[in-house]
Order: sequence, then C-alpha cells, then structure tokens
Amino acid sequence: MPKEFHGDKAKEWADQLGSEMMYLNLGGVDWVFLNSSRVVEDLLEKRSSIYSSRPAFVMVGEIISRMKRLVLQPYGTEWKNLRRVMHILLTGSSADSYRPLEDLESKQAMWEILHRPEEWHLSTIRFAASFTIAMIYGVRQKGHSELFQKVSDAQDEFLRNNVPGTWLVDDYPQLQKLPRSLQWWRPYGDKLFEFTRDAFKGYYDLMVENTKKGVQKDCFATKFYAETESKKGGDFDFDQKLFTTGGLIEAGSDTTKNQLNMLVAAMAADPNTWIKKARAELDSVCGANAERLPTFDDWEKLPYIQAIMKESMRWRPNVNPTGFPHALIRDDEYEGYRFPAGTVVTINNWAISLNPEEYENPTKFDPDRFLNEDIWNATKGHYGYGAGRRTCAGFKVAQNSMFIFFSRFIYCFDVFEDPNDRIDTYHIPLTPPPGKANDPPFTAKVRVRSEAHKQLILSSCAEALEAYD
Ligand code: HEM
Repeated sequence: MPKEFHGDKAKEWADQLGSEMMYLNLGGVDWVFLNSSRVVEDLLEKRSSIYSSRPAFVMVGEIISRMKRLVLQPYGTEWKNLRRVMHILLTGSSADSYRPLEDLESKQAMWEILHRPEEWHLSTIRFAASFTIAMIYGVRQKGHSELFQKVSDAQDEFLRNNVPGTWLVDDYPQLQKLPRSLQWWRPYGDKLFEFTRDAFKGYYDLMVENTKKGVQKDCFATKFYAETESKKGGDFDFDQKLFTTGGLIEAGSDTTKNQLNMLVAAMAADPNTWIKKARAELDSVCGANAERLPTFDDWEKLPYIQAIMKESMRWRPNVNPTGFPHALIRDDEYEGYRFPAGTVVTINNWAISLNPEEYENPTKFDPDRFLNEDIWNATKGHYGYGAGRRTCAGFKVAQNSMFIFFSRFIYCFDVFEDPNDRIDTYHIPLTPPPGKANDPPFTAKVRVRSEAHKQLILSSCAEALEAYD
C-alpha cells in the first residue's frame, strides 16, 4: 500500500476486482475492504455491535498512543465511558452552545481573508484550530501558536504512521517477541509518545495557570475534568484525560480545516454551476447587495448549504480515503463468507465515493444529488464521518463549523483557479510533509465578491479581532 494517496490504489484494486468486498492479508492480519454502501450498511451499521472495535496496531496504538487515544481504543468499558461523556459534551444543546465561538472565529476568518486573500489557507488552519482549542480549552489562537504547532505536529506524525503497512510490526505483531533492545521501531515510537503527551499537557498546564489567575473560561475541559472526577464520570487516569482533551483538538482541527480547503478547491474547479445556486439561496436570505452575513438562525432557510456540506464530505472524504479501520469482535458470517474475530474491516471510502454505480457522475461536485428527504440528516448518504457506533463523536460540532464558514465564505468571496497551476483535486495533501504545515495545499486565487461585500465584512467582522480575550 503506498504511503501517500493510498486511496487511489485501493480504488484501483476494487475496480479491477469489480466486487463489493476485497480481502488483503497484511502480515497475518485479515483485512476486508468494503467497496459498496450496501455492504457498509449491512456490516458496520446493522451489525455495529460486533463491528465497532479497533485493530490492535502495535505502533500507533500501543506505543505512540499507549492506548489512550479514544479513536484507537477497543470496544469496551473504557471506550464506552468516554463516548458517554463525549455524547454529553458534544451533541444536542452542548454542540450548539459552541455556536457563538464558531460565529466569532468565522468572522475573524472573513476579515483575514479580505485583508490577505493570498493567505486564505492560513485562515482555514487558524479558524479550525482556534475554534477547536477555544471549545476544548477556552483560549483562542489569534496568530501563530507554539502550543498548537506542537499538537498539530504530533497529529501529523500520528496520521503518517496510521497508514496501513507503514510499520512491519503492525503487520507482524510477533516481532514484539524480539528483545526490546532489538525492536528498532521502539525508540522512535516512545519518543513520539513523549512528544505527544507533552504537547497535550501544554494546554492542560495553561488551563491550570488560568484557573489560578481566575481567568479560565468555561469550556469542554473544565466540564470534562469535573465530570470525570465525579464518581459516575468513569475512572480515567491522568494520561487518559490528557489524551482525551488533546485528542479532541487533533480530531476536530485538521479534519475541519481539510473540509474547508475542499470547499475552496471545489469553488475554484467549477465557479459557474453549483455556486450560482448557492448564491441565489444566500442572496434571497441575506440580500443580493450584501445586506447581512448569514447566521445560525438561517440554518433551515439554507438547505443548499447543507447539500454542499454533504457533497464536500462525499467528493473528497478527508480523514482517510480507505476509512478508519474497525475490528470485528467475534466470528461472523456474511453472504457465504466467514470472517474470524479480529478481522479488520474498513470502508473503501474513495472507491465508494467515486463509483458511478453509487453516485451518478461521481467526479463532479454536485450538491443537487443530496437535495432529497435526508437533507437534514448530516451523516446519511456518504461515509465522511465513518459508520456505525464509531461514527465521528463530534460531527454535530463539525456541521456547525462548516455551516457558518461555508455560508459566509460563499456569500462573500469568489475563488479562481490559476490557469498555469491547476488544482489536482484528487491529490490534495491531507497531512502536510514535515515542516510544511503552513504551506498552501494548492494554488487558488480568492477575491471579495463586490465592494458591498467588502463593506459588510469591514462593518460586521471587526469585533471578532478583540473578542473573547
Ligand atoms: C469535518 C470534520 C470532521 C470529519 C470529516 C471527521 C471524521 C471522522 C471519522 C471518519 C472518524 C472515524 C469514524 C469511524 O471509525 O467509523 C471520526 C472519529 C472521531 N471524531 Fe471526527 N471528524 C470531524 C470533526 C470532528 C470534531 C469537530 C470532533 C470533536 C470535537 C471529532 C471527534 C471525533 C472523535 C472523538 C472520534 C473517535 C470516535 C470513536 O472512535 O469512537 N471529529 N471522525
């Protein structure tokens, strides 16, 4: 499996085989790739009580994360307790309680993009990072932050190591029987664990310091530490708490940023068709002459924005083109195939998303395909948030972030491709190479839509520069 753009390879294999499932043996571990939505629904959704564990990856799971990253934890009591707390703090009215922050951060992003359009990509990074950190730890990131850079570097390193086939020891776990001094992967993995823990602890220490000074804001972490210190909140050790709050910064920031970048790419690639429909809807709600910015109160009046959000998740699913792997907890049988317990089962997301039998004209960015009775059901019709019981724990928060950024950006800005440097939308890097975290993922020219939109941003967004300090 190639380390970069491995979705291409998995799609190529699925196309060659023409089958709804494909089997790979990676060093003794059984992998099943699900190549159609039908089998994803049958296995990961309908049989989710047995398909919701995670594979025991030695390197990323046991060594780099000491099994503390929620996203890698096996289906068991610790994971269930953590998901319960996530459910309380990230869904329903809790998810909506972060909307004022999303409102603020998106205003700041519009202001920045107006003043430095050539640095639009720094604004998508800042928006996603600052909102997530303010939600989790109560502090905004106004400019470059060493603390965030460390978390981001730790995450990028984690994701680079999370590609199937990266480490021999994941494919051949029996290598762990080698004497520790001969385990060549261990010093690197141990060092990365320490680096990650340190990065996560930076924000915890800041919270403790701000609490002492009496300036700490109410946020996810203050509630989470209170909840987990109570008896019913589960019995989590300190590292588990650090990795839960730090892990959420990871889970929420790059994913959201990548999805915003996909929107910019989709706008540049096709400035004439779907954008006109989006603008017609936005103009009818907010005024054709930039009367006001879209707000969360417009949610139900902007179904086309919902369709754009769904289409962006389908068009280029950003977490992993071959899905985030699930593991089966007991032997199972499906349509004549026998799967032993421990089988790794993953959504071949890239292959499904680009399959003309699943989606008509799949290479086209076409939000209209989602204008149906499921329009308000954010997770239905694509697998951008995964599937079954492991479906993204923060998807409601992510939907709010995308809604406010997408609607304001589309309302206020035009995007153009550079004819001399066209965007390869199939190969937009999701994890930047080391040291390149702040490089643009592709070239796009962004320009404010009109003088009226410029004045609207100037008059409505300036407040965000100073707020929430
Ligand atoms: C557009 C943004 C986002 C995308 C595309 C996304 C996508 C995903 C995907 C594909 C998974 C794995 C699902 C599976 O295994 O089937 C996942 C898991 C997760 N996500 Fe998100 N996510 C986003 C934003 C967020 C945010 C904002 C948060 C929290 C603040 C969050 C928290 C989590 C957590 C905690 C998990 C682990 C769930 C588990 O293993 O039980 N995500 N996400």
